[in-house]
Amino acid sequence: MTFRKIALATAALALMPSAQASEVFEQAKITAGEMLYKVECRRCHAADSSDPSYGPPLENVIGRGAGTFPDYDYSEALATSGIVWTPAALRAWMEDNTGFLPGTKMRHVGIEDRTVQDFILTYLASLSAVEKQ
Ligand code: HEC
Repeated sequence: MTFRKIALATAALALMPSAQASEVFEQAKITAGEMLYKVECRRCHAADSSDPSYGPPLENVIGRGAGTFPDYDYSEALATSGIVWTPAALRAWMEDNTGFLPGTKMRHVGIEDRTVQDFILTYLASLSAVEKQ
C-alpha cells in the first residue's frame, strides 16, 4: 500500500461517524481474534457447540461455570474448581492454564501478550451472549 492510499484510508476513517468507526474497529478485532483462535485454540476447541472436538466447545463460554458443558469428560480439577469464566479468569487461563489450575488436562498454553489475549477474548465474546468487560 502506498503512503497516498494509507493517507486516503485514514482520512476516510476519520470522516466516518465515530459510532461507525468503532464498529469497524470492533469487527477488525473479532476477525483478528478469530485468526489467533484458529492458530492457538481451534485444534482442540470447536467454536460451535454442535461440532465435536477434543476440548469442550467455547461457544457461550463467557459467564459459564467451568466444567459445566453437558456430557464433556472434564478433569476432576476443572469439574470441581468452582471457577466462572469471566474475562479476567480467561486471561489468566490463556496466560498459564496449568499454573492457574494444576491438574487440568488442557496442555499448557502461555499467551502472555495482553493484545493477543484481548483479540481472542473479543472473538470469544462474539460467540457469547454476554458482553466482554
Ligand atoms: C492441545 C489442546 C488444547 C488447546 C491448544 C487449547 N485447549 Fe483449552 N482445553 C483443552 C482441554 C482438553 C480442556 C478440558 C480441560 C480439563 O478438563 O481439565 C480445555 C478446557 C478449556 C477451557 C474450560 C472450558 C470449560 O467448559 O470449563 C477453556 C476456557 C479453554 N480451554 C480455553 C482455551 C483457549 C482460549 C485456548 C487457546 C488460547 C485453548 N483453550 C487451547 C484442550 C486445549
